[in-house]
Amino acid sequence: MTTYSEEFKLVARPGEISFSKGLDGVVAAESTKSYVDGLGGRLVYHGHPIEELAEESTFEEVFFLLLYDRLPTAAELARFTGQLQQHREIPEEIYAIVRDHAARRGVHPMTVLRTAISALAVFDEHAEEDTPETHQAQAVQITSKMATVAAAIGRVRSGQAIVHPRSDLSHAANYFYMMMGRVPDAFEARLTDVLLILHADHESNASTFAALVVKSTLADTYSAVVAGIAALKGPLHGGANEQVMKMLESIGSPERVAAWLDEAMAQKKKIMGFGHRVYKTMDPRATILRGYAREVTRRAGTERWLVMAEQIEKTMVEKFAQKGIWPNVDFFSGVVMASLGIDPSMFTPLFAVGRSAGWVAHAWEQRQDNRLFRPRFVYVGPESEPYIPLAERK
Ligand SMILES: CC(C)(COP(=O)(O)OP(=O)(O)OC[C@H]1O[C@@H](n2cnc3c(N)ncnc32)[C@H](O)[C@@H]1OP(=O)(O)O)[C@@H](O)C(=O)NCCC(=O)NCCS
Repeated sequence: MTTYSEEFKLVARPGEISFSKGLDGVVAAESTKSYVDGLGGRLVYHGHPIEELAEESTFEEVFFLLLYDRLPTAAELARFTGQLQQHREIPEEIYAIVRDHAARRGVHPMTVLRTAISALAVFDEHAEEDTPETHQAQAVQITSKMATVAAAIGRVRSGQAIVHPRSDLSHAANYFYMMMGRVPDAFEARLTDVLLILHADHESNASTFAALVVKSTLADTYSAVVAGIAALKGPLHGGANEQVMKMLESIGSPERVAAWLDEAMAQKKKIMGFGHRVYKTMDPRATILRGYAREVTRRAGTERWLVMAEQIEKTMVEKFAQKGIWPNVDFFSGVVMASLGIDPSMFTPLFAVGRSAGWVAHAWEQRQDNRLFRPRFVYVGPESEPYIPLAERK
């Protein structure tokens, strides 16, 4: 018989200790990267309000800010942009993974993205080196290549030829170019940039936390990012944007919104794109995207998506605002991305292309002052059970 120490056996019996389901309200680390003010509806990346960055900045500059905790000088930004451009191409073997799997029935693009980014580590001879130089190099390389992989997945899924990256475009414009097979106009390039900026970081969200847990074991940066992609895939996190578009498609027209919502509420369904663990008011990213939604739906002739979204928003806010349930980033991003011509199944990969910046920045921050994440569970199983031999079990 194995004897366990009291400490090992039980943290406490139920009722003797309080714990927070889903780690709600638990502070897991210190970070200089971003701050979410859930009651004030503010998001700040290292001191810069998200509205300012969405208006003034670029993905490259925001990525530098997240990684190095300051805005770059012009020379630094040019060098950093050059590094991102230089690492865009991916090995033929990674294209082969995408070609072989992205169009398979029942395979989600995020599954292929997770697989391909994991496989990328095999082609990096420095993947296992744990030095500041390799960490920073991999942060740039993974984020640069994430866009190429994600775009290639979209092309293969829709039966189109893969478009290889160009090295003369911005990160956002090149990503759009690889997705659509044409260079974006100024509005499309700006909107893609804004989407990447808004998705770049969000404090201790589920995918960033997953990446940090992996990084805290001193695993390599690819492993941390793969954990981030895996967590982002779920419909309660990054997958919500795709679900919002599915919801709008299934409702079909503005006239059907009221009846659809009544039924959904009667069935106590969660409405995708609403609610947030931290924001108990309007998510500032949703406000920014609602503004862009007007212009992009007008240009694309998809105004009805926005009309439907605003009807849903109005009813939801009337009924649920008091409970702290408001639109989150995923509510309007679906309408915006669909109007840019992006297939709903490729919304979450776009989120990953932006969030890669946050994952690698937080992983690097964690590595610089590491302590293994190792929380406890409250043991609620039986204290002692007899071991019945297999042949005697019923
Ligand atoms: C994001 C989310 C997981 C946060 O959840 P959380 O902090 O764990 O809160 P819970 O899921 O426990 O919900 C708390 C209450 O609000 C309700 N609620 C939360 N989100 C809701 C939604 N989108 N629609 C309707 N009701 C919602 C829950 O039903 C629950 O009600 P109850 O207290 O009567 O049981 C949740 O709001 C959600 O599932 N939203 C939809 C998915 C989504 O848009 N995700 C993207 C987040 S950026």
